[in-house]
Amino acid sequence: MKTYLVTGAAGFIGSNFVKYMLGRYDDVRLVCLDLLTYAGYLGTIDENIDGERCIFVRGDIGDRKLVDSLMKDYDVDVVVNFAAESHVDRSIENPQLFLQTNILGTQTLLEAAKAAWQTGKGADGFPTYRDGVRYHQVSTDEVYGSLGKEGYFTENTPLDPHSPYSASKASADHFVAAYRDTYHLPVSITRCSNNYGPYHFPEKLIPLILGNILKAKPLPVYGKGENIRDWLYVEDHCKAIDMVVRNGKPGNIYNVGGHNERQNIVIVRTILTLVREEMEQNPELRTLLPADKREDLSWIGEGLITYVTDRLGHDLRYGIDPQKIKDDLGWYPETDFETGIRKTVHWYLTHREWVEAVSGDDYQQYYERMYAGR
Ligand code: NAD
Ligand code: TYD
Repeated sequence: MKTYLVTGAAGFIGSNFVKYMLGRYDDVRLVCLDLLTYAGYLGTIDENIDGERCIFVRGDIGDRKLVDSLMKDYDVDVVVNFAAESHVDRSIENPQLFLQTNILGTQTLLEAAKAAWQTGKGADGFPTYRDGVRYHQVSTDEVYGSLGKEGYFTENTPLDPHSPYSASKASADHFVAAYRDTYHLPVSITRCSNNYGPYHFPEKLIPLILGNILKAKPLPVYGKGENIRDWLYVEDHCKAIDMVVRNGKPGNIYNVGGHNERQNIVIVRTILTLVREEMEQNPELRTLLPADKREDLSWIGEGLITYVTDRLGHDLRYGIDPQKIKDDLGWYPETDFETGIRKTVHWYLTHREWVEAVSGDDYQQYYERMYAGR
């Protein structure tokens, strides 16, 4: 039995990871640590929490005392750090919080892991650690900056972050590498492209567009909609993290992506097409639409798209070269974009209670602030 400390377990990717691990293995125990910020919702994982194989603790990754006690009380073998402030637009509004959580929080976890796992000192002066332990940092392709029309990010691409979010994630990655090089802490890092799938917080592009279609609200596309993101189905990301933690070489970095690059405008049009198809095939779903818009669905189309003021410092293109994780670990994405986006649209149409539960007043205020008059 291995015990994992899964931070950010009530967020989008963390919650999918919890479900993936519990569904796949009988011999893991998960200690889920989450501060339940605006982005964390306990309802997403409460069916998984049983107090034995899956334990939930509300708290801050930056709280050293708490993290020390969890490491000790549960005899944690593996830390997987998902916890972060994750939204670029919010980082433009309030960079400080991103330093606090993403940089200082990560360094606190590293320090606590080092303290909990150190067994002594080797002849070379470096600390030694007990067998089978691993600190895994969930990072992002955004640390590499922006690509032009050609080329891909490899693990050797120099870090060149542009937003406060990506600068904080890059800094955290440097600290993880520093603990590897200075203290020989067994670490790994995955840098993946944009995830999509169930439990994605409504502030992000795909769920935001879906939600606005259902309310017949304008679909805000930043700039000209030509920016490109490389989309990865969240379960494929969870599989990659699991493989890297189990079999990835300590100290290594792995890029995770499935060559699914799309311009934002193409994503928006795809969602429009799929929502309309679902509404045509399953008329009972039309109750999700405004009452006066359920008969004739021709309004679900291009006319809803509004081009709005661009994001400051908006990276043009992300594209991952996943060759290393394919060659070293045999990882490949199982869900192609067409299948994944269809599943995702269907999930959102049939889980409105989840969307309502996470879109409280705070989120409504954020939306107004961010989009009104843009
Ligand atoms: P998310 O915003 O949906 O979830 C983040 C979770 O962390 C929330 O549950 C929140 O409550 C929790 N949290 C925030 N601050 C905390 C703190 N101080 N202590 C404990 N918990 C805290 O984010 P996500 O999309 O699930 O992303 C997870 C990780 O993956 C992040 O590190 C992010 O940088 C990285 N990542 C995400 C994507 C993506 O497309 N979503 C892509 C690449 C990398
Ligand atoms: P987002 O989902 O915020 O992820 P990230 O910024 O981490 O890539 O945005 C994805 C892309 O969609 C990005 O290029 C910004 C763009 N975008 C819009 O055009 N409109 C929106 O309302 C949002 C939230 C994002």
